[in-house]
Amino acid sequence: MSEDIIAKHVTNPDTPDEPNGIDPDGSVTSPLHLMRWISENRAAFKPPVGNKYLYSGRDFFVMIIAGPNARNDFHQTDSEEFFIQLEGDIIVKTHEGGRIVDHLVREGETFFIPPNVPHAPCRPEGTLGLVVERRRPAGELEHQIFYCDKCHALVEDNEFDCSDIVSAFKQAMEDFWADEERSTCRSCGHRIGKPGPFVMPERTD
Ligand SMILES: [Fe+2]
Repeated sequence: MSEDIIAKHVTNPDTPDEPNGIDPDGSVTSPLHLMRWISENRAAFKPPVGNKYLYSGRDFFVMIIAGPNARNDFHQTDSEEFFIQLEGDIIVKTHEGGRIVDHLVREGETFFIPPNVPHAPCRPEGTLGLVVERRRPAGELEHQIFYCDKCHALVEDNEFDCSDIVSAFKQAMEDFWADEERSTCRSCGHRIGKPGPFVMPERTD
């Protein structure tokens, strides 16, 4: 394959070193066995990172994400997300009709988040899931939203340019949690604090 053709296939400039379906010699990457790939990359799923690109292409990217995570911000984008839960059960919170809904996504199940639905995946320790997301170009906006976990009221809605979410989101949530005024619900007075690693609540199912 010529350099020109390789260039046409490639890729997301933000992740030049991630696999994008083209090998260094220009041939299309062979299929891989997902669970074998995961066991060969176990070290990448240890905290605090917890995720690794399976593919990072031009149009969309595929990540394997391990628990636990420790965040209570919701995301809202004008794009879809697709989940396959590979090991263990997680909860994906969505904000629908003015309230927070907990979607239990069990091992082996899939979940699809339509565009513009605020969502917050909550992953306990020992879980592993696959997520497919559309590449968001610079200039497209992405929301980081905090809702009150007691009364579900909106506490803060911050808009970011998608081109700098990775660095911006992390600092933005630390700033939010540290600011007592901003992180206190104006409807009920509850403080939205910095969460610890997510632990699955007691279940009866
Ligand atoms: Fe509240």
